Amino acid sequence: MPLRGDFLWGGAIAANQAEGAYQSGGKGMSLVDILPSGIERRNALENPGRTIKTDYGYYPSHESINFYENYKEDIKLFAEMGFKIFRMSISWPRIFPNGDDEKPNEAGLGFYDDVFDELHKYGIEPLVTINHFDTPLALFEKYGGWKNRKLVDFYERYARVLFDRYGNKVKYWLTHNEINMLLHIPFFGAAIDVSESENPDQDKYQSAHHQLVASSIATKIANETNTDIQIGCMLAAGEVYYNTPAPKDVYAALKANREQYFFIDVQSRGYYPSYAWKLFDDLGIELKIKDGDLELLKENTVDFISFSYYSSRLVSADPEVNRQLQGGNAFDSLRNPYLEASDWGWQIDPLGLRITMNQVYDRYQKPLFIVENGLGAKDELTEDGKVYDDYRIDYMKEHLVEMINAVDDGVELWGYTSWGCIDLVSAGTGEMKKRYGFIYVDRDNEGNGTDRRYKKKSFDWYRSVINSNGKNL
Ligand code: BG6
Repeated sequence: MPLRGDFLWGGAIAANQAEGAYQSGGKGMSLVDILPSGIERRNALENPGRTIKTDYGYYPSHESINFYENYKEDIKLFAEMGFKIFRMSISWPRIFPNGDDEKPNEAGLGFYDDVFDELHKYGIEPLVTINHFDTPLALFEKYGGWKNRKLVDFYERYARVLFDRYGNKVKYWLTHNEINMLLHIPFFGAAIDVSESENPDQDKYQSAHHQLVASSIATKIANETNTDIQIGCMLAAGEVYYNTPAPKDVYAALKANREQYFFIDVQSRGYYPSYAWKLFDDLGIELKIKDGDLELLKENTVDFISFSYYSSRLVSADPEVNRQLQGGNAFDSLRNPYLEASDWGWQIDPLGLRITMNQVYDRYQKPLFIVENGLGAKDELTEDGKVYDDYRIDYMKEHLVEMINAVDDGVELWGYTSWGCIDLVSAGTGEMKKRYGFIYVDRDNEGNGTDRRYKKKSFDWYRSVINSNGKNL
């Protein structure tokens, strides 16, 4: 089966990694705004209480690539590549600076009106993430983040404002970015600090419940606003392989896969899977569920399943073997001897994309959308203003081949948005030097640079991929 004629090709960014202007237009502080870059960042993403300081010197994300002011120029370049869709997020603290404000910030709302209008000018459909690691900092400081039930109400108020305002401009929405990340980097994913928790799992899964309920409420509001709207969940995906055929390793991989699918099981099927209740028992978790929550989950399931894919993972049941677990996009994995890795140690597994797509589709039988995939690399701008990123083209080509193979296997796929289609600040390291884009931005980790945009070699390559609907790879 070939790709659909209306396949949605495009690229993706997130507000907190691209907009900059972190205090302009009435925007409040986001939890990301206080995070350091470099090696100190990983601890802070997990447990800020133990590590966070107030001044880390220069914060690349504060200015980032200044999409806030450059969006017209950037969208023009996306249009030149032939984008059909552009994934972006709305900065929650740009709309509700403190998160608990009674009224939204009109300057923030106006900014996104302008961005959507600019996209539509070129016939590019926006795909909007409501919360991409961007909970207002005040909701962490005042309420302790998503473990507090009040966050559901604040998110509902925020979502209602977005659907009222943009319900006729934006058709595709995602409720939370990589919802399963909150188990691995809880501060980033759920604005919670579990370093002082009596039972960190209790706080993580309580936060998860609140985000799941909030997602259902947003879905309900969206469907009441405009029945054309399509709502998706968003999973940090990547099939977990077992280290050996020993049944105990196979079972360990099954459990690790359930840890990610848990969220999507609820969002897609509408109820907690039976294994979840056993897990809560084992972890000593008593989930606080309000009257009506389970009905909300049941009645407001998602229309499609979106996910990011960077790598597969590998686990063992043997604690000795697991001493060699290493990080990669916040997930730990054993080194797979059959795979190579990026400069940042992320293992590269194109066939893993086909495997993951088939597994997800088999499990849910709903349309899929790949909303992140790409290679973070150190690019070099030559004196004649070029970046010869053949390594990125190779990476993407291999992944797109497997994506098309998965569609041929029978998977229904709506679209593909490559991550960081224009260079931006890395979420995991907070740095500029980890670049994903087809467009190079002249700005470094220390804030030097002109902000000028340059087309990389991959720019023309991706344009030809889109023009041929995936035939010219
Ligand atoms: C995903 C996030 O986890 O991976 C993005 O949704 C992030 O926000 C992307 O940027 C790549 O990770 P990193 O750490 O290389 O920026």
